[in-house]
Amino acid sequence: MKFLDRITQWMGIRKSSKSHTGYPDQKSSDSSRIFPDSSLRKLEKKRLKVTDLQIGMTVVELDRPWTDIPVDFQEITINTRSDIALLQQYCDEVYVDYISYTSVTSDNLFHNKNAHTLSSNKLINAQQTSMALKAELPRAKKAFDRSLGYIHKLLKDVAQSSEIDVLAAREVVADCVDSILRNDTAMFWLTKIKNQDDYTAEHCLRVGILAITFGKYLQLGRVQMELLGLCGILHDVGKMQIPNHILNKTTPLTQEEFNIIKQHTSLGYQYLSSHGDIDPLVQQAAHNHHEHINGNGYPRQLSEEELSLYDRLIAIVDSYDAMTSDRCYRLGMPASQAVSILYNEQHQHYDSQLVQLFIQMVGIYPVGSLVKMNNGQIAVVLSTNEDHKLEPVVELLTDPYRRLIQPVAVDLSKHVTDSFGHFLKIKRSLADHEVDFDLKAVLLRSSSSSQVA
Ligand SMILES: [Fe+2]
Repeated sequence: MKFLDRITQWMGIRKSSKSHTGYPDQKSSDSSRIFPDSSLRKLEKKRLKVTDLQIGMTVVELDRPWTDIPVDFQEITINTRSDIALLQQYCDEVYVDYISYTSVTSDNLFHNKNAHTLSSNKLINAQQTSMALKAELPRAKKAFDRSLGYIHKLLKDVAQSSEIDVLAAREVVADCVDSILRNDTAMFWLTKIKNQDDYTAEHCLRVGILAITFGKYLQLGRVQMELLGLCGILHDVGKMQIPNHILNKTTPLTQEEFNIIKQHTSLGYQYLSSHGDIDPLVQQAAHNHHEHINGNGYPRQLSEEELSLYDRLIAIVDSYDAMTSDRCYRLGMPASQAVSILYNEQHQHYDSQLVQLFIQMVGIYPVGSLVKMNNGQIAVVLSTNEDHKLEPVVELLTDPYRRLIQPVAVDLSKHVTDSFGHFLKIKRSLADHEVDFDLKAVLLRSSSSSQVA
C-alpha cells in the first residue's frame, strides 16, 4: 500500500478504546531512564563487519591491536576504497564512530530525489534563508510565548482537576499552524530555546510544533495539522498526576518508580476523556504515545494495526525531543545521534516509513542544531540543502576560539573559506550543553541580526 493511501486510511481510523483502566506493564523495554549511562555509552560507536564499511566512516577500534596493521594512527577516517581494502585485509570487524556512521547511512536514505528536507530549496541562498527566518520569527515568537503561557495554565488546571479550556487550546494551536504554514523554520528554530527547569510544559509545546511541522511535510490538511498540534500539547498531561519527587528524580529510577511514571499515559487518557470536549484521536494519542510498533510498548501492548497515524507520529516526535533535551537526570544528545537512534529502532518501536520521512524532513543537521566547524567555529544550522546534505546553510556564531561574533550566514555548499583561506566544513554535531554561551540569547539575537557572507 502506498504511503499516502496509508495516511488516508489512518485519517479514517477512529477506534473505540479497549480499556480505560489499563495499567502500565513491566515488560516494557523502555529502560533509558533506568540505565541512562549504559544506554548512552553504547551509542558512541557501532560494531560493523569490514564488508559493510563505507567511505566517510571513522574507524575507532579494530578486532585486533592497531600495531597489527600498517598504519600510524589509532583512528582512521575512510577516504578511499583502498582504505577499506586495507582494513579488509587484516580485520573481520571494526568499531566506527557513531556520528560518522549516521552521516553516511542517513545520507543513503536521501536517494529519493522527490523528498525535500525541511525548508530546503535549491534556489534559496544564505541571504534569502536568513531573511525569511528573520521575517517570520517575531510572529512565531508571539505564537510560541502565547502557547507556552496556555500550557502552563493547562498543566496547573490538570493538577487541580479543573476542566480543560479546549477553545483556548485550539486557538493557540491555530496560531502555531499559521506560523508554520508561512515559514516552517521559525517555530522549529524556537524549539531549540529550552529551559531545563520548565521541561514538561516546553516539551509539550515542542512536541506540538514538531508534530504540526511534520504534518505539513506530509502534506496533510489544516484540520489534521491542528489535530496533531493538539495531540502534541496534550500528550503528557497525565504527568501532572505523577508525584513530583518521582518525575523530577535526578538519580536512576527503581522499577517501581518507573512503573508509576508509566501510568501517565492511562491517567492522561482518563483525564482528557472526562474533562472537556476533546477529539477521541487526541485522547488516544495521550494513551498510546508509548506503544511500540512491535506490540511491546505500554500501557496496553497494542499491535501495529491498532495505532493511528497520530499515535505513531507523536511517538516519533516525542522521542526525538526527549532525546535532544537536557533532563534532570541526564544531558541531551546531538540531533544527529537522536536521528540515528530513531533509525535503528524503526522496526521495533516506531513506524518505519514515518521514521524515514521524519529523518528526510529534519536532515542530518536539523534546523536550529549546533555544529562545530573544521576551524573550531561554532555555528547553528539555518536550513538544510537537499542536494548537499552535509553542507547546509549555517550561521557562524563564534570565532575559532569560541568567542561570540556578529552572526554571519554562509552556504557551505558554495565552498566558503575562512580568514585563513581554509574551506569551511562541518566537523561534527554538538549537543546544546556543549557550548558555554547562553544559547537562548544567541538564537534570538542571531536570527534577528545576521549578516551574510
Ligand atoms: Fe509520555
